[in-house]
Amino acid sequence: MAIEAPAARPANPRFSSGPCAKNPTFTLDKLADAPLGRSHRAAVGKAKLKEAIETTREVLGIPADYKIGIVPASDTGAMEMAMWSMLGARKVEMLAWESFGAGWVTDVVKQLKIDAETKVAEYGEIVDLAGVDTKNNDVVFTWNGTTSGVRVPNGDWIADDREGITICDATSAAFAMDLPWDKLDVTTFSWQKVLGGEAAHGMLVLSPKAVERLESYTPAWPLPKIFRLTKGGKLIDGIFTGATINTPSMLAVEDYLVALDWAKSVGGLEGMIARADANTAAIAAFVDSKDWIANLAVDPATASNTSVCLKFTDDRIQDGASFAKAVAKRLENEGVALDIGAYRDAPAGLRIWCGGTVETSDVEALMAWLEHAFEAEIAAQ
Ligand SMILES: Cc1ncc(COP(=O)(O)O)c(C=O)c1O
Repeated sequence: MAIEAPAARPANPRFSSGPCAKNPTFTLDKLADAPLGRSHRAAVGKAKLKEAIETTREVLGIPADYKIGIVPASDTGAMEMAMWSMLGARKVEMLAWESFGAGWVTDVVKQLKIDAETKVAEYGEIVDLAGVDTKNNDVVFTWNGTTSGVRVPNGDWIADDREGITICDATSAAFAMDLPWDKLDVTTFSWQKVLGGEAAHGMLVLSPKAVERLESYTPAWPLPKIFRLTKGGKLIDGIFTGATINTPSMLAVEDYLVALDWAKSVGGLEGMIARADANTAAIAAFVDSKDWIANLAVDPATASNTSVCLKFTDDRIQDGASFAKAVAKRLENEGVALDIGAYRDAPAGLRIWCGGTVETSDVEALMAWLEHAFEAEIAAQ
């Protein structure tokens, strides 16, 4: 029996969790003001880089005494330069609940060979945050686990009077979730996530405590040039005013400025959070009304509002992994959803990006198609 296809299609089928959809008003000609073919150290280039830093501060509400730098190698570069530059000074706790957090554990334990205390939760769960000694230890964690759709609910578990530092990978959280800057000493993210910008460059946000660590501690291991944030025991201030360590893409910078402008036009951080929340609510309403699909996040308080991960729970499904792949493939072939298969290391299922560049009407249209694809694959088994 043919199953009737829904009438409405998402206007934009891009639901990838990174690079994420460009904002709905984006066109390539908006990048025409990029100073291409000019030195990034010329006044025009430096001004663009400084504007990117200061508009980031404005939109995210980052305190005036925090440093914001544009660094090489996207979020990974920002995280690794922070860990390589600052860890080893005191005991480290590593927290992970999905693949990227696990990658930072590998960096610290296997590469830096730090005898860290490692706390790992299964996909869908989170570690016991109350049991983390944020008062005494350095703590490395991921605010939103992009591959499990699990996030920390807030920063209340982080001590105000901490002696260690917190290093937070916030790449799929920044511009979609409230980040408590007073609890975060190092925060990193990439332009390619919630803002729908381009990869290549990472953002590194440092609290005064993080700067103090950088200026008072020299790690035992060598640091390559692209990780070096200090010179002669002092922070290299230029990195935080637009004099990048090496050559950035001025096209990517222009694209970031356009994305920030758009974020401001939809109400800034508050508007961006509301958009992500509305997208997530559309999925939650659908999932709650069906008995064959569920959120991978076990506790709704930790469920992401950007990378929403879903699992199929129907008893009729014979092979969970191939079923989920077939549903994703069917949706792709229909042109209604691209790149929504679960991450390669995550449990079988779907991952639907809900960050602010995605329109709620598109998420709603996708839900009808999801049901259609599910029924079709059940029938095809
Ligand atoms: C939580 C998290 N950390 C790190 C990364 C790596 O980001 P990038 O490829 O921008 O370095 C990703 C990418 O998806 C991520 O989701």
